[in-house]
Amino acid sequence: MTSRLVTNIGELVTWEPDRPVRHDAAFVVEDGAVAWIGAPGDAPATDTVQDVGGAAVVPGFVDSHTHLVFAGDRSAEFEARMTGQPYAAGGIRTTVEATRAATDDQLAGTVARHLAEMRAQGTTTVEIKSGYGLTVHDEERSLAIARRSTPETTFLGAHVVPAGTDVAAYVDLVTGEMLRRCAPHARWIDVFCEDGAFGGDEARTVLTAGIAAGLLPRIHANQLGPGPGVQLAVELGAAAADHCTYLTASDVDALAGSGTVAGLLPGVEFSTRQPYPDARRLVDAGVTVSIATDCNPGSSYTSSMPFCLALAVRDMGLSPLEALRAATQGGATSLRRDEVGHLRIGATADHVVLDAPSYVHLAYRPGVPLVTSVG
Ligand code: NIG
Ligand code: FE
Repeated sequence: MTSRLVTNIGELVTWEPDRPVRHDAAFVVEDGAVAWIGAPGDAPATDTVQDVGGAAVVPGFVDSHTHLVFAGDRSAEFEARMTGQPYAAGGIRTTVEATRAATDDQLAGTVARHLAEMRAQGTTTVEIKSGYGLTVHDEERSLAIARRSTPETTFLGAHVVPAGTDVAAYVDLVTGEMLRRCAPHARWIDVFCEDGAFGGDEARTVLTAGIAAGLLPRIHANQLGPGPGVQLAVELGAAAADHCTYLTASDVDALAGSGTVAGLLPGVEFSTRQPYPDARRLVDAGVTVSIATDCNPGSSYTSSMPFCLALAVRDMGLSPLEALRAATQGGATSLRRDEVGHLRIGATADHVVLDAPSYVHLAYRPGVPLVTSVG
């Protein structure tokens, strides 16, 4: 057993129910888990000591929504958007072509590069989706590559209907042969429920087939306009309904009475000039919210959880503490993981030391690299 004391913490966010933020604190890590929390002067003897000199320490970020298995570049599409072109789901097909043409090593290299970027910015748990292959072979290899880096892999064969393919025939493929080959590499099943992608009935068919194959449901819902995705998520007991940009009052009520997390992806609204989701309305209604990057080459090419957290504070009505909770504990709830996203006793000791006296700096100093170390 090895033990380490992290001490002289100016501000420690643990998410303990009675004291979510401590001041002048220390904690002990034993075999990778939090074993003790208290005042520096009361700390037990440990093998090693890390003195953080009064810095703030927060739980590692949980990025519950990414699309890291891709190839190609869509900066020209982004540039066109910034000069007036609207975002459309069809851009996904550009990435599909490039992804199919890439080797396994190229795809794995891209995943590794983005994961390194994420870790340097404080992310310690990452979900990765397939969805840029759209053939049995390319979806399966996308998931196998993602699985090398995380247990949180999501089969998103139903990302968009491939060019020249009939929707019904493609849904048959996704729920048949493709699902059989992909399920062993995945924990989750996802579908892009949106005009231009899959309608409510098709989405239900996809998720139901995934559940029958032993996968857990999550969904891309209500991103580009109102739609049936959120209600479907609640009906099926999905862990997450992600995007939630266009919600009706009954969508909010349905989420509030459910165990489905509303996943907010502000990098998308930043990068597509869509209106931001109203996080304040969701939190006030009692909905559990998460913040994630949605890192992908089309709608949100950021790997930075601090950037997304800052947007959620500035443009979505969350306080800095609420945004931090959504980016840590909210993400963990969205992935149905109870040992990450917090630093209570027993948690996996994923923690981020900030070059700042308070977690507030994550939103107060946007774009500044504040992560000193990730443990
Ligand atoms: O989450 N919404 C669907 N999928 C991605 C976009 C992918 C793309 O444009 O390549 C998203 O925003
Ligand atoms: Fe997405």
